[in-house]
Amino acid sequence: MTYFRENIEKTKAYEPGFQPPFLLSQESGGVKLNTNENPYPPSPQVLKALAELKPEQLRRYPDPMASAFREAAAEVNSVKPDNIMCCNGGDELLRIAFEAFCDENRPVAYPVPTYSLYPVLAKLQNCRAIEVPFDKEFNLPAKLTGTGAALTIICNPNAPSGTFINVEELASLADELSGVLLIDEAYVDFSETNCTALVKDFDNVIILRSMSKGYSLAGLRFGYAIARPDLITGLMKIKDSYNVDAVAIALAAAAIKDQQYFKENVEKVKAERAGLTEQLRKLGFVVPDSFANFVLAKCKNKLVGAKPAVARKASEVYEKLTQRNIYVRYFNYPKLKDKLRITIGTAEQNDKLISALGEILAV
Ligand SMILES: Cc1ncc(COP(=O)(O)O)c(C=O)c1O
Repeated sequence: MTYFRENIEKTKAYEPGFQPPFLLSQESGGVKLNTNENPYPPSPQVLKALAELKPEQLRRYPDPMASAFREAAAEVNSVKPDNIMCCNGGDELLRIAFEAFCDENRPVAYPVPTYSLYPVLAKLQNCRAIEVPFDKEFNLPAKLTGTGAALTIICNPNAPSGTFINVEELASLADELSGVLLIDEAYVDFSETNCTALVKDFDNVIILRSMSKGYSLAGLRFGYAIARPDLITGLMKIKDSYNVDAVAIALAAAAIKDQQYFKENVEKVKAERAGLTEQLRKLGFVVPDSFANFVLAKCKNKLVGAKPAVARKASEVYEKLTQRNIYVRYFNYPKLKDKLRITIGTAEQNDKLISALGEILAV
């Protein structure tokens, strides 16, 4: 006997990356590289906005349109405020999109492997998920054009591969699809370009953005959609009236307005990404060039001179890192079992990871 709808009963909940409580303390010595948080603090302007909050802002309901953020984000992205909808993290936009476009007769399609929340949302919405496998290089699968899905999602850069599909290819996809194309750009702040321009050319494109990664605000829960006003108006019917709170609006607006801090922060992460990628490759991992704030490292480690010269299992390396208080992400999923997803940390964190890997692989 269950009180739940059958599809809810059958859904296996999304498993967020482990958040060890003791790592909140700086002195713990632990290294947390498992949930793609930014290793640097948010802009000082965010902390200033926090200090300047008035009790009145808590007593009253927040602005349902989050206009302060909407206007700032419109300016940064060279669009109009009515092209923007704010949401409680990019994840809320994904849930809203499934509710808006999918049901028993209206499937979703996406390439795999990708963000593991998509299949969970499909189950909750009771819609069929058409999963089209990526090739080894994570190129855009041609088959995606012919699925007939009501919603197609492309995570770009893709998680967990970090690979990037170029804007022209996504423009052709948007042109060929009969349904909506949602481009999940949660990590695009770490890429060289983005798909915002497609919103001007196509009435079926929704761009997802997150303040969690590039702006160091994962704890705040703030994201937004960029799309044509017709799509934005439709999506707004589904969101909670007050889906983003007054504190979040004020702080997210302060963060996006401080573009100088944001750009410097992103450049630091990119420089560390280049260094970490090189070091991992030297240790024998196969690492595709990443356009995000993480890398996907395939364990193919046959250390020169190591006896026996066997490849290490990713799960084994993961366990050994965890024992050393170093947290990365291991997905026990097809095509990912031999890989580790590693968030780019500070120089110090990345050094700790590399020296621990050196020890683990040498034994
Ligand atoms: C691919 C992808 N999309 C969207 C999100 C949602 O991010 P948030 O809800 O923190 O804005 C995440 C979070 O990790 C992600 O990895």
